[in-house]
Amino acid sequence: MRISLEDAVAKLRQGEIVAIPTETVYGLAADASNDIALQKIFATKQRPADHPLIVHISDINRVADWAECFPEVAVKLAKAFWPGPLTLILPAKNHVSRVVRGGESTIALRVPNHPMTLALLEFSGLSVAAPSANLFTQLSPTTAEHVEAGLGESVAVLDGGACKVGIESTIVSVTAEGHWQLLRPGMISEDDIIRIAGKPQPQNIMGSDKTLAEEAKPKAPGQHALHYSPRTPLFLFKDKIMLIQECEALTQAGFKCAALLIGKGKQPNCNVVQLPNKPVEVAERLYSALHELDAMKVDRLLVELPDNTPKWAAVLDRLNRAGHRG
Ligand code: TXA
Ligand code: MG
Repeated sequence: MRISLEDAVAKLRQGEIVAIPTETVYGLAADASNDIALQKIFATKQRPADHPLIVHISDINRVADWAECFPEVAVKLAKAFWPGPLTLILPAKNHVSRVVRGGESTIALRVPNHPMTLALLEFSGLSVAAPSANLFTQLSPTTAEHVEAGLGESVAVLDGGACKVGIESTIVSVTAEGHWQLLRPGMISEDDIIRIAGKPQPQNIMGSDKTLAEEAKPKAPGQHALHYSPRTPLFLFKDKIMLIQECEALTQAGFKCAALLIGKGKQPNCNVVQLPNKPVEVAERLYSALHELDAMKVDRLLVELPDNTPKWAAVLDRLNRAGHRG
């Protein structure tokens, strides 16, 4: 069900959940200060309660509502990348609900870069918790259609078009002492972070730093097998030749395949989605391509991996979590 910005604000104020567009993926939003509303996110996504949520805020001045401290290195990162696809994990204020933090002592914050959602946050004065608007472990949505296909037609969606970045934000945790750690790669690369924050500290530090690193670890996203997965079994290939051979073998054995290819070259004898050999464009279209391939209802999805170089780190991370190596 598509709804207007005004209706989205009204629903959020009433403690209802609404799917909202961001530049990365669609989020399933609820008022971050309303525990009953937050419970609806966990129930709808079928997400375990110990998985903390990202709180989306309208601007940098709202950090103080949630975080106990805002170390200088985090301020620099926020100023460099917000609004944008960066989530900062900071020590939480005591009053912050355990529901939104999933029992952690920290809180995840980000200012999303989507005009509709920024307008919603500014106009409503709310901060909204929003995990990706998909069932737990399934493919993330990058269009309103994906949200409806995954969560059902009855979910309220604010349609903001196709997401431009296309994969989830980069997550960086920063301790009270200003030490940082990359928890999830995204299109803001580790090198981009290092340029602003300097090199990360070694993690064998005593005191609260050690605690945070240890606490953050089990909660780092996608540690579960089959995160970001399509329903069709997905297999990964280092090059087109191996993928084409596997496609031939599977076809002979009576299995139907479809393939995702990166860049031009020889093609397998099956349905193909081909993406240009460019990280930014592959990221933007990755989940759409996987949703499209999944909808073909074949027996196997065969995916060509891009080069194992830093500029492909975020795309490789998502593909490696979605698939099995061929
Ligand atoms: O781009 C994004 O980040 C999207 C859009 C909607 O903003 N959101 C998103 O949310 O990807 P979600 O819930 O699918 O992934 C957020 C991840 C969770 O897997 C959780 O483990 C991690 O962030 N996270 C949140 N709070 C944390 C905390 N306090 N400590 C460690 N990890 C945390
Ligand atoms: Mg997710």
